[in-house]
Amino acid sequence: MSNHGPSIYVRGTGSYAPEKILTNDDMSKFVETTDEWIVTRTGIRQRRIAAEGEVTSDMAVEAARKAMEMAKIGPDEVDALIIATLTPDMLFPSTACIVQHKLGLGPIPAFDVDAACSGFIYGLETARGILMANPKYKNVVLVGAEKLSSIIDWEDRATCVLFGDGAGAVVLSRDETAGGGELLGVQLGANGKNAPLIHMPGGGSQIPSTVDSVQARQHFLKMNGREVFKLAVRAMVKGANDILEECDVNLEDVGCVIPHQANIRIIESVASHLKLSLDLFPNNVQNYGNTSAASVPLALDEAIRSNRIADGEYVLMIAFGAGLTWGSTLMKWNSPK
Ligand code: UT7
Repeated sequence: MSNHGPSIYVRGTGSYAPEKILTNDDMSKFVETTDEWIVTRTGIRQRRIAAEGEVTSDMAVEAARKAMEMAKIGPDEVDALIIATLTPDMLFPSTACIVQHKLGLGPIPAFDVDAACSGFIYGLETARGILMANPKYKNVVLVGAEKLSSIIDWEDRATCVLFGDGAGAVVLSRDETAGGGELLGVQLGANGKNAPLIHMPGGGSQIPSTVDSVQARQHFLKMNGREVFKLAVRAMVKGANDILEECDVNLEDVGCVIPHQANIRIIESVASHLKLSLDLFPNNVQNYGNTSAASVPLALDEAIRSNRIADGEYVLMIAFGAGLTWGSTLMKWNSPK
């Protein structure tokens, strides 16, 4: 296989979505939209919204706890913590440091990765690198967590209907005796030329927060949806083919595909380009909308817990997001012991 070091395993998964459900009909009461438009253009029927006072780190903690439970590891066995997010609790310190404290972990390295909707796949490669490079790291917790409701422009119907809040987590381990999904490879890429296609201009060093920047709605997510759609399909198809080639696995042998859950039409188009049946894709975009860095680990956790993924099956994960960034990975699933 493509690994040039010890194998790394997904030994546990967990996810969390806030209780509050916002349906398409609920949304049609405050923006000019309809359930019919949202369902036919995106497949989304509802999304979850964080409770008052509930922040990204709280959702990350819930998902991480469940993943650690499945992996049967305690707080003292976590050797590093990575949070993939574009909606951190605050600009700094990292959300990972806040989660480390809330989970009661030891004085381990904790940091955030920002690759937007590809953040979980970027985090996988980062965690894999840490585990492969130094045997003192045995378990890394990686969480994709987002409170997108905090950066959505609730007056912009073209974007506000698309996103939701949630978190998904994995425990990655170099202990092969514990079982789990073996990561066979990761492919990543970025093209900063297309950065303006999805971005939040305000709140950084370019447009610091001022009364004017807030009034000009600079602190909300902006997106050119149509352009992103085309590039997303292209990048995900290429990501899928590249990782299969790297791992020397045939497309026909893939048992399950978990794409970033942004829009069912993007997923259908990727499936059709790859000539794969949609039955291989356990999608949940209808329930959660686009949860950015949380979307792949949330869908992975639901697929595993509902026994959608059988032992010995190849699982292909592909993501795409702001940056623009993309990433893909192939895992051979075996239930953790
Ligand atoms: O994680 C990666 C991040 N981003 C994405 O994955 C998004 C990728 N893009 C998309 O999913 C799609 O482009 C959208 C769902 C955002 C939009 O679908 P579309 O088929 O590309 O529609 P459109 O933007 O071309 O808009 C078509 C029409 C427009 O009206 P006119 O100009 O034709 O009169 C929009 O104003 O639909 C209108 N529209 C809406 N109508 C009702 C836009 N949003 C809404 C809405 N309800 N919520």
